[in-house]
Amino acid sequence: MSDPTFQAAYAQLVTALERARELGLKEPAAVALATTDFEGRPTVRIVLIRGVDERGLTFFTNSRSLKGRQLLINPRASLCFHWDAIREQIRVDGKVEQITEEESDAYWRQRSRSSQLASAASLQSEKLADTAVYAQAVAELEEKYEGAAIPRPSHWFGYRIVPDSIEFWYGRDARMHERIVYEQSATGWSRRMLYP
Ligand SMILES: Cc1cc2nc3c(=O)[nH]c(=O)nc-3n(C[C@H](O)[C@H](O)[C@H](O)COP(=O)(O)O)c2cc1C
Repeated sequence: MSDPTFQAAYAQLVTALERARELGLKEPAAVALATTDFEGRPTVRIVLIRGVDERGLTFFTNSRSLKGRQLLINPRASLCFHWDAIREQIRVDGKVEQITEEESDAYWRQRSRSSQLASAASLQSEKLADTAVYAQAVAELEEKYEGAAIPRPSHWFGYRIVPDSIEFWYGRDARMHERIVYEQSATGWSRRMLYP
């Protein structure tokens, strides 16, 4: 995307993420991610943004989870970062697409073996009668793949949120907070300020 206004928004996003990383937080890339069901009812949960580039923001999950099923119905999401220490919030809205198999494989290979086992054994968002059942499923996979690489389940992959709106909120004294929103329309990206 070569739109100069989008480039400005993207640069502002990257700078904010760098500032958040420097805070030394455990999870600076944690975001609230909202998706909707077929009646438009929203559901929100935290996920980790694992990649940001000009194409969008990527998170990984089980596509059979509630969020995965909701994204099949409505492939749009809204996400929100909040870093209290620097009084900043960023909201990103956009369409959601699946990243390539190669990109998901590359991220899967970086994960620890225990994370691979736990996510491969998890029927994320399904009813679990007893945690022992999950522990057993993990143990069975561990045995099955002893001495071998654990394959990425085909239903576990990355989703990219392709922004069509990015809003920055900067906390200021006396409630004079700053809000800057970048939005994409048919004619390109625009920037405006909003009342706080
Ligand atoms: C700090 C934090 C990070 C998380 N990161 C992820 C993640 O990257 N991917 C994921 O699928 N779930 C992640 N979770 C769990 C989700 O919040 C959620 O419980 C799970 O994905 C099931 O959501 P769903 O039933 O709405 O699909 C994280 C939870 C927390 C608290």
